[in-house]
Amino acid sequence: MNQDALKKQVGIEAARHIKNDMIVGLGTGSTVAYLIDEIARRIKEEKLTITGVSTSNATSKHAKKLGIPLKTIDEVDFVDLTIDGADEISADFQGIKGGGGALLFEKIVANYSRKYIWIVDESKLVDKIGNFPLPIEVVVYGAKQIYKILENKGYHPQFRYKKNKNFFVTDNGNFIIDLHLIDPIKDPTALGGELKKMVGVIEHGLFLNMVDTVIIGTNTGIQVLNAT
Ligand code: A5P
Repeated sequence: MNQDALKKQVGIEAARHIKNDMIVGLGTGSTVAYLIDEIARRIKEEKLTITGVSTSNATSKHAKKLGIPLKTIDEVDFVDLTIDGADEISADFQGIKGGGGALLFEKIVANYSRKYIWIVDESKLVDKIGNFPLPIEVVVYGAKQIYKILENKGYHPQFRYKKNKNFFVTDNGNFIIDLHLIDPIKDPTALGGELKKMVGVIEHGLFLNMVDTVIIGTNTGIQVLNAT
């Protein structure tokens, strides 16, 4: 099976965890796109009733187009279940997210969720995180100063650009700097704390001790790993 087929498989599988009347956090990315399609199918064919809480403009657009009712995170008291993709997951369930640039809203919605599931194809599993470039969302004003600090720390930063060579701008109007750390991150908690302390850094893509369950698409079928 190719990577896309594996993503579709887990997107469909994850939708089975959704029950009537749930408030469901909808992540962002190509794997979640399959989940959204399946939720829409269940709404139409099985009369499933849910409220979605979106984590990006792209997800909102997709969900609205398919008739999935949405509320913002501030319009709900809590989220029953959030399902999202991930870019890298270590053996001890630490993750890097933000490959699509939606890390801030993804982290906010996950933070208010009673249950948090990641859906990935098997290529996302690693022993230790750090090979995938670590995204950091930064305020535009002073972004080049942050870049210089990160460069001096030896973190190999790169501003994220769009295909047309303009800066990539997040849904919140910020820039993304990707850290090409190369080596596995020895202490993700310490690195996350260090990044958060930098003035102008809004959020980073380290999602630590957050996920409850990981649903993995493999060539030999679906695998479910529980962190908690
Ligand atoms: C979006 O910013 C990311 O966190 C995505 O959830 C992550 O990049 C996974 O995306 P894919 O499902 O497209 O691989």
